[in-house]
Amino acid sequence: MAEKTSDGALDDLIGSLKSAVAPFRATLNELHAKYRGVTDGKIANYIPELAMADPKWFGISVVTVDGQVFDVGDCEQPFTVQSVSKPFVFGMALEDHGREAVLQKVGIEPTGEAFNAIVLDEKSNRPFNPLVNSGAIATADLIHGKDFADRIKRLLGMFNRYTGRNVHLDNAVFMSERTTGHRNRAIAHLMLNFGMVSHLIEESLELYFQQCSVLVHAHDLAVMAATLANGGVNPITQQRAIDQQYVKDVLSVMLTCGMYDYAGEWAYRVGLPAKSGVGGGICAVVPGRCGIGIFSPPLDARGNSVRGIKACEELSNRFGLHSFELGFAGEKLEDQFRLRKNRREA
Ligand code: DON
Repeated sequence: MAEKTSDGALDDLIGSLKSAVAPFRATLNELHAKYRGVTDGKIANYIPELAMADPKWFGISVVTVDGQVFDVGDCEQPFTVQSVSKPFVFGMALEDHGREAVLQKVGIEPTGEAFNAIVLDEKSNRPFNPLVNSGAIATADLIHGKDFADRIKRLLGMFNRYTGRNVHLDNAVFMSERTTGHRNRAIAHLMLNFGMVSHLIEESLELYFQQCSVLVHAHDLAVMAATLANGGVNPITQQRAIDQQYVKDVLSVMLTCGMYDYAGEWAYRVGLPAKSGVGGGICAVVPGRCGIGIFSPPLDARGNSVRGIKACEELSNRFGLHSFELGFAGEKLEDQFRLRKNRREA
């Protein structure tokens, strides 16, 4: 005998039927077709394992705060999250220690320097922000746990809550990172010299290499971004991934520091909190509305996905998504979504 359909299940079914025919699906297909032929950019090869990516891979995913999903192209192709992990680990450090303690160890100023620059703030000896390598290593050092295994477990648990599934590491990338990560070790020891990291720094470096090696896909990045857009609650699972009070901290550093030394131009042209990684991922947040996840491995000279930047810029301009866009008169994103009823937080 068939199970009785609950109102919630019926609501879900109607919602997915609506989003299956929503105009936004055609818009994303159009965008994907427009940029799929772009051949600029180079695949990162400073970590040998990353060089094996296919330059043609290209996925665009958008997930709304009420749980609608729009995936186009290679949205389930796994790749390593790399630096896209950094704002999420920063959020976890804030939960573990609170704002003031975290700010003792890492600043929140954009650097205008490359992500792996060996430079600390001269006055405070802190790394400039949590989204460059120095700051991310200092942030990883702040992750609590009763032992190393527990710290890793907590870190992966955090990614599980954001993605809504059990994530795993790419062991080959992890080994490749740790055997070639001399520059990161140098940065870590410089910070140890200034007392910015703890005596657990070797372990924390391993944790940092592991966080960079977490396997995700473009759809995951969109769900992670949508979770931040939704005040910290995963819109698919309804599980809280981060304490609401720290969401704005994470989003502000993403807006000012998320795109390496392109951060200023990104804030000006696109105007969305975002983070890119050398694996080719970009995770962008449209607060209160949706999350965008893009994957395309060829990178520009600053280390950002070429097709990813183009697609985000077009989405932002076409639908007036820039954070400071007021009174936008063009087509509304929500009209393309055909939003369904808001779900309740579990
Ligand atoms: O530390 C590294 O070299 C990389 N695993 C970091 C990755 C990355 O995406 C660089 N971005 N800030």
